[in-house]
Amino acid sequence: MSEIKRIGVLTSGGDCAGLNAVISSVVEAAEKKGWEVYGINDGTEGITEKPHRYEVLTVKNFSDSPWPRLSGSYLGSLNKGMRIESLEEVSKRFATGVKELGLDAIVVVGGDGSMNIVSNMCRGSMVRIIGIPKTIDNDTPITEFSVGFQTAVQYCTTAIDSLELTARSHNRAMITEVMGRDAGHLALHSALAGNADVCLIPEIPYTINGIINKLKEIKARGRNHAVIVVSEGLKTEDGTPVTNRKNMVGEMIYGGIGQYLCGEISKVYNDFQFRVTTLGHLQRSGVPVAFDRLLASLFGAKAVELLAQGEDNKMVVWKNGEVSAVELNDVVKAGTTLVDPKGKYVKAAKDLGIYIGEI
Ligand code: F6P
Repeated sequence: MSEIKRIGVLTSGGDCAGLNAVISSVVEAAEKKGWEVYGINDGTEGITEKPHRYEVLTVKNFSDSPWPRLSGSYLGSLNKGMRIESLEEVSKRFATGVKELGLDAIVVVGGDGSMNIVSNMCRGSMVRIIGIPKTIDNDTPITEFSVGFQTAVQYCTTAIDSLELTARSHNRAMITEVMGRDAGHLALHSALAGNADVCLIPEIPYTINGIINKLKEIKARGRNHAVIVVSEGLKTEDGTPVTNRKNMVGEMIYGGIGQYLCGEISKVYNDFQFRVTTLGHLQRSGVPVAFDRLLASLFGAKAVELLAQGEDNKMVVWKNGEVSAVELNDVVKAGTTLVDPKGKYVKAAKDLGIYIGEI
């Protein structure tokens, strides 16, 4: 294994809070080893397109700035928007770009989709990769938490708390639609943290009647308002998607399930007024909470340590209260981590009387 002189770092997929803290810790740790760091712009495109888009990141111009404390990605990112059709073509361009930039390894900060794309692009080439998981969806396999998730949970919980206060004033049931794609982690964690009455996630079937029964129970207890949290990837009661909008690579652009539920419930039950709030991309921003910053620091340092030890094709993970590394191939093979309907969070929701569907 040749000695490392220069590494690249890039962010890929949808942004989230904590990305700049990850970049910062990679720069800090790499500089301590005497390595140069190229920050690659716009995900893998900064490498595959010409002229290559990158800038040299140093502790002085990056970590010593306010950037590590801010959301967004200083480097720019690309969410499922790869503009080159064939994997073979893009892999060739990636390997060539890495060589032209003189990168000995790359730290990829991404979610399950990005880990999959990048590891496919590197298959059969000599490009050394270490992955760092980030996503508000928390659906990257093996790691218990990805960077950005806890900040999104905090944002959603704060929103739920605020909505609960206005709901009280107006005899309302507030439906809050949160992101998460096909995984209900964000909805479930914020519903638990925010004392929701109903939490609907794609992994668990539900009925409109089940929701109404819960609302009736609340009313019978004398409470004049209710809080409903719904994950954007939930389908209608009979399993039909509420939208058919697609992104550049043919994946669903979610949004609208909150309005659907509002319409269906209020057709038959009007003891509450219903209002819908869709939190949207605000969930990806805000001030990164301490745990995301902590993960960012630990993950960045670990990624550099792994490269220094001659490791590659690994992803750093948070498991059983500590940072370790797993094979990138195992992450890719595992696909996407959905909520376990038999898991501890669903059990807690049921134990607390939250209506979480028909299980
Ligand atoms: O994967 C992160 C995520 O924020 C999802 O929760 C959401 O469905 C999607 O990205 C939105 O993507 P875009 O930024 O392309 O609208």
